[in-house]
Amino acid sequence: MTQSPGQGQALDNLLTESRTFPPSDDFAAQANAKPDLYEEAKADREAFWAKQAERLHWDTKWTQVLDWSDAPFAKWFVGGKLNVAYNCVDRHVESGHGEQVAIHWEGEPGDSRAITYAELQREVSKAANALTSLGIGAEDRVAIYMPMVPEAIFAMLACARLGAMHSVVFGGFSAEALRTRIEDSECKLVITTDGQYRRGNPAPLKPSVDEAVAGAPSVEKVLVVKRTNTEVAWTDKDVWWHELVDSQSDQHTPEAFDSEHPLFILYTSGTTGKPKGILHTSGGYLTQASYTHYNVFDLKSDTDVYWCTADIGWVTGHSYIVYGPLSNRVTQVVYEGTPNTPHEGRHWEIVQKYGVSIYYTAPTLIRTFMKWGADIPAKYDLSSLRVLGSVGEPINPEAWIWYRENVGGGQAPIVDTWWQTETGAIMISPLPGVVSTKPGSAQRPLPGIGAKVVNDEGVEVPHGGGGYLVLDEPWPSMLRGIWGDEERYKDTYWSRFAEQGFYFAGDGAKYDDDGDIWLLGRVDDVMNVSGHRISTTEVESALVSHPTVAEAAVVGASDATTGQGIVAFVILRGGAGDEAGGAEAIKALRDHVAKEIGPIAKPRQIMVVPELPKTRSGKIMRRLLRDVAENRAVGDVTTLADSSVMDLISAGLQSGKSED
Ligand code: WTA
Repeated sequence: MTQSPGQGQALDNLLTESRTFPPSDDFAAQANAKPDLYEEAKADREAFWAKQAERLHWDTKWTQVLDWSDAPFAKWFVGGKLNVAYNCVDRHVESGHGEQVAIHWEGEPGDSRAITYAELQREVSKAANALTSLGIGAEDRVAIYMPMVPEAIFAMLACARLGAMHSVVFGGFSAEALRTRIEDSECKLVITTDGQYRRGNPAPLKPSVDEAVAGAPSVEKVLVVKRTNTEVAWTDKDVWWHELVDSQSDQHTPEAFDSEHPLFILYTSGTTGKPKGILHTSGGYLTQASYTHYNVFDLKSDTDVYWCTADIGWVTGHSYIVYGPLSNRVTQVVYEGTPNTPHEGRHWEIVQKYGVSIYYTAPTLIRTFMKWGADIPAKYDLSSLRVLGSVGEPINPEAWIWYRENVGGGQAPIVDTWWQTETGAIMISPLPGVVSTKPGSAQRPLPGIGAKVVNDEGVEVPHGGGGYLVLDEPWPSMLRGIWGDEERYKDTYWSRFAEQGFYFAGDGAKYDDDGDIWLLGRVDDVMNVSGHRISTTEVESALVSHPTVAEAAVVGASDATTGQGIVAFVILRGGAGDEAGGAEAIKALRDHVAKEIGPIAKPRQIMVVPELPKTRSGKIMRRLLRDVAENRAVGDVTTLADSSVMDLISAGLQSGKSED
């Protein structure tokens, strides 16, 4: 279990991994998805998606399934009208399920709350009325910067109900990261909390909002949920949630919006410093979120208790806590805190308490559980678990097997789900009652989805071959663009294989001999740390913004727990002084990055170097730095402008290395 994942490892696994786990007869017999789903989709893709769209309530039915005439800008379910929040809340109350628990919310300190669909409807209606009173209407942008409290979900659904776009910013991001995101999409309102619980202690959150809002003139109001009772500074833009929302009527009539009406923006890292505001719309997004959640997790609305451990700050929280599950009338657990608060069995205690039957998490967490030891889950009754999911990065076979044995009781099928913020919903994954699962492989595109692995020329590679993962058919939940930047959208996703019209996902992948897909990690300069996409450029910019740093290069080095860890190489400014390379100063640099971007972007290690390896055109050769960071012999240096640089770096490392 000490092996690390990463590209080389995934390749080794491919060569040695031959175990497969067919679904049991019992599971297959009761599964939502049957083998004919693949054939049905293949026979007529658009008819297949039209049928999936019938999972939703449409106020006006569409006249055309897909309009791809303006590619790469898709329109799905053209002419259709629906209200996303109505589909996630009201219709379940109207069909007689008002008393079903929608959310079993578990606070980090141990407080809890069960929210039925009827109550959810009242809360979302009140929040929608409150937002209206603050002047929020269709197409306005609302930033949501909150921990995992129920109000965060009410706020998202209230925006959806009003046709306003939410832009959820992860609560671990810094004030500066929040400000740039607010500014990019000119949010009018920010919804936040006074503070958040972090590892058992309340930590202030609102000061970051105050700092961000001071530099973001578009913001008119800040709506503040009281969560930790932390004392907060108050400005004339601030409004308490409990004062405004609680006094609203709990009745609200949802309006139907066009299928292509924007639903949300979610920022994600790209290869340049500026985060991309990924834009999603309504009808197609909800259709695919709902379809995938139902079939991939085999959801049974009346009996399952589902738990996705993601944060709503990431796309997984959007599609597999809020929209997919609630549209399917789920009963789900939402947990506020960290997995080791107050002890390392917290997740298993929650599984036991609520009888969780479907559990969806990330490989980084599974590896952390492995580190903590199998004796911890063994103390709890996990027999309710019947489907396990994984998302965010490649899962190495050992972690997969550990998950199956120690969490899934050697029984529960594991679905390794590949997708992206941009794809909106799951694209590649085994169907649990149909496909024999293979540890480490996401296996095959879902029915209705087109994906392949191609070479540099865009030609599909043979079984056993590796290359780039592309999506060769438009899909309902695909991004509709990057906020405010059409060119960047075309450039980033559609230019690499423009001739073929493929969407390039940025991931390397390969086929095994059976034609199953294995993901091999990002091929661009985007790191994947604990399942979070972080761009090298952003971390480099943060480092260079420190007064002692002249130049910085950042790489993702494989890390046994987090998938990749951030390793930075910095050149200090002349005159920065001798202490600038010392342990204290290095710690200050790491803290500086945490302040600029957020603690998740804190480099694992910073090395002070005299030079950086560059090509003649001045491009930093990250490949060589990755060799250094992973303690390998340095590879081919022939394209380096100055080949002695690598010797200088290695020599310098003896003195300037820092790790903590
Ligand atoms: C990676 C998260 C391997 C991949 C939903 C992708 C995965 C990026 C998997 C998107 C998986 C996600 N196996 N790699 N099952 N799932 N990835 O936008 O590199 O935060 O491009 O969306 O995560 O990350 P994002």
